[in-house]
Amino acid sequence: MSDAKKLFVKTYGCQMNVYDSERMVAAMGAKGYEETDRPEEADMILLNTCHIREKAAEKVYSELGRYRGLKEARPDLKIGVAGCVAQAEGEEIMRRQPLVDIVVGPQAYHRLPQLTDAAAKDGRAIDTDFPEEDKFDHLPRGPKARRAPAAFLTVQEGCDKFCAFCVVPYTRGAEVSRPADRILAEARDLVERGVVEITLLGQNVNAYHGAAADGDWSLARLIRELAAVDGLERIRFTTSHPNDMDDDLIAAHGEVEKLMPYLHLPVQSGSDRVLKAMNRKHTAEDYLRLLERIRAARPDIALSGDFIVGFPGESDADFEDTLALCREVAYAQAYSFKYSPRPGTPAADRAHVDEDVKSERLQRLQAQLTADQVAFQQSMVGKTLPVLVEKPGREPGQMVGRSPYLQAVHFQADPALTGRLLPVEIRAAAPNSLSGALAE
Ligand code: 5AD
Ligand code: SF4
Repeated sequence: MSDAKKLFVKTYGCQMNVYDSERMVAAMGAKGYEETDRPEEADMILLNTCHIREKAAEKVYSELGRYRGLKEARPDLKIGVAGCVAQAEGEEIMRRQPLVDIVVGPQAYHRLPQLTDAAAKDGRAIDTDFPEEDKFDHLPRGPKARRAPAAFLTVQEGCDKFCAFCVVPYTRGAEVSRPADRILAEARDLVERGVVEITLLGQNVNAYHGAAADGDWSLARLIRELAAVDGLERIRFTTSHPNDMDDDLIAAHGEVEKLMPYLHLPVQSGSDRVLKAMNRKHTAEDYLRLLERIRAARPDIALSGDFIVGFPGESDADFEDTLALCREVAYAQAYSFKYSPRPGTPAADRAHVDEDVKSERLQRLQAQLTADQVAFQQSMVGKTLPVLVEKPGREPGQMVGRSPYLQAVHFQADPALTGRLLPVEIRAAAPNSLSGALAE
């Protein structure tokens, strides 16, 4: 038993929140906190929240309610709310939920240790500023512990695109790119800890333009430099806006072997009318031509996307255009959502599509996307894929890894092979995973 204080973190939403949570754990580690997966034994509970779609705030309130008993039993338990709900509704959370001691927005995480001190002294503390300094410079990376073979690395944060449905420009703020040398240093550090695959994260990651000694680097340049890091075998990036796929980034997909042939490139809708109303600043045709160029550079690339159905003003014909676009692209994988009005965003005040219509459209779109996904999964059977061995599976002797296309792959292997890239012959496909056997 150590007498370190215990921190329980629950993470909602995107991969950037996963990364942020890790960094907050490290920051609190420097203050003597150890992470726990049991809220009952925690001295501090932190919810890292997401505000992107419906009922986000309600989920946070109901989750907070579940900790009431713990807090009553141990009044010195500290409860914090971080993430995008904290940013958007921090003051309101403080008013409505007296259980909460700390509210911290995504740009203020490096101040979490001080906030904890302030809350210990004054009872409660809130910080939803957008400070000038780079929070990651002030967030320690924790002890040199061994890491899982695949890791996230945030390179860019915030967004200046202002799609009419999206809260990100308000909760994460303006687009900021981290300096290239910090990213390279962090990548080398991750590799020293056993990381083999890095996913570069940003709300608009392909708009990356980080400062470097010889001028700003684009994402393509950053990827090329990362590819030169020994021991780093796989590079991915997410998530991108079609208008920021520049020529060099497209070319990199053909030239950089370590860059995986899998691209998440959301289009949201296949209708030009809706795309315009969404303020996406490109047409469906622009998007399809862009995919042609990417596929010319990297013929085996698999695509993933995001869709919103029932955006204000979306007609039956508009929705049919979305289905048509999906048929043409044949996504390997895609996420689709019913439009949900986000307070403070331009589309929130527009006339809404009927809820039943949204549900019906979502069902039809998902049926098609699932069919494409199943076909893509099925097309892997008989192939031998390089798989990064990640962790034990559910069955005895089984390991789980990732294919180049981010598919989960199950196979029998020695756990000592964790972190190795090995050829696996694919024997069977399910909608969300593959299985096979290590090839000779
Ligand atoms: N309603 C529904 N879906 C949304 N997304 C973003 N904002 C909304 C909203 N208000 C979806 C988009 C985005 C993904 C991360 O979440 O498809 O690409
Ligand atoms: Fe939101 Fe992405 Fe549009 Fe930015 S580009 S406003 S993060 S959907």
